[in-house]
Amino acid sequence: MLRTFVTHNPEDLEAYFGRALPELLRIAEVVLNPLDRDLTTPELIEHAATCDVVIAHRSTPGESTLFSGCERLLAFLRTAVDISTVDVGAASRNGVLVAHADKSFVPSTAEIALALMLDLARNVSESTVDYRRGVDPPQRPGFQLRGKVAGLIGYGAIARYLADALRSLGVEVVVTDPYVDAGVDGFRQVGLSELLGRSDFVLPLAASTPETEHLIDDAALALMRPGAMLVNVSRGELLDEDAVGRALDSGHLAGLGMDVGCATDQRPSAALATRPGVVSTPHLGGLTPENADAQAMSAVEQVRALTIGELPPRSVNPDAASRLRAWWTA
Ligand SMILES: NC(=O)c1ccc[n+]([C@@H]2O[C@H](COP(=O)([O-])OP(=O)(O)OC[C@H]3O[C@@H](n4cnc5c(N)ncnc54)[C@H](O)[C@@H]3O)[C@@H](O)[C@H]2O)c1
Repeated sequence: MLRTFVTHNPEDLEAYFGRALPELLRIAEVVLNPLDRDLTTPELIEHAATCDVVIAHRSTPGESTLFSGCERLLAFLRTAVDISTVDVGAASRNGVLVAHADKSFVPSTAEIALALMLDLARNVSESTVDYRRGVDPPQRPGFQLRGKVAGLIGYGAIARYLADALRSLGVEVVVTDPYVDAGVDGFRQVGLSELLGRSDFVLPLAASTPETEHLIDDAALALMRPGAMLVNVSRGELLDEDAVGRALDSGHLAGLGMDVGCATDQRPSAALATRPGVVSTPHLGGLTPENADAQAMSAVEQVRALTIGELPPRSVNPDAASRLRAWWTA
């Protein structure tokens, strides 16, 4: 049996591994994070030194010292899709396989975008806050989504799911993506300027790259319709937050919904989240139990594959997995 270390702290273990831990125990010798918090890399090296596999929470980086320091380590399996904190080059140099989870976050993240749109449209949070303060809320009827235009910047997995949901609500969806054609699904593909000028809601859903950093800046905001709203569930870097603040101040931007921002762990920054007209959630788009369970089960599936001599699905450096090949042939 593969000796498998799980880095999740007790709270995350409960959130992710309710169903997956019994499954994992059936196929592997499991070692749990013994502390009541996330481990530092030196602590992880110490505790996982005798393990063949590390199943890593998204808050556990895969630093080069881990791959050189854990000589038995065959595979580093991330229970998330984002591997930007994993030094894949160092893993490869040390012959360690890196793999990630699949995109089970798509429905949850698209739904949080929809929740923020609906909240902005109908002032749900504003009225709730009034009631909690003991104030009888004024009537803020807002507006319906049906008949409005939503502009999706990027047509990846989340955008495609959201586009279908919006279409079923009677929202006209326009899309801009230089690399993917949304026309095949019946959505109108337009240039960025046209999208900004036409949309009642603008939703940046592009990947975070140097090209998309501050995609929504002063110039982009000026192209948006007066009274339009912005909803960001993608990555904080996509927005120039100072420019967004200025557009809210002037009233040109009528509302902002954020699940992500420039604070720690991609959370919305307090400077924007505390303003009137802004609704925010603390980067919990993908954090539903359904997604956590699916990502933990994805790691169990990967351990099972390793055990029977197969490359796990979603391996990112299979050609470099020399330790694994040596273990299979030993
Ligand atoms: N809020 C959360 O909890 C949460 C959860 C999961 C993912 N995300 C984020 O949501 C975003 C979308 O995720 P996804 O899985 O749909 O990504 P994806 O990789 O499937 O799609 C990204 C899309 O962006 C497009 N793109 C790249 N550059 C562009 C540009 N300059 N203009 C327009 N489009 C461009 C790509 O062609 C691609 O179609 C990512 O930034 C991801 O990190 C957030």
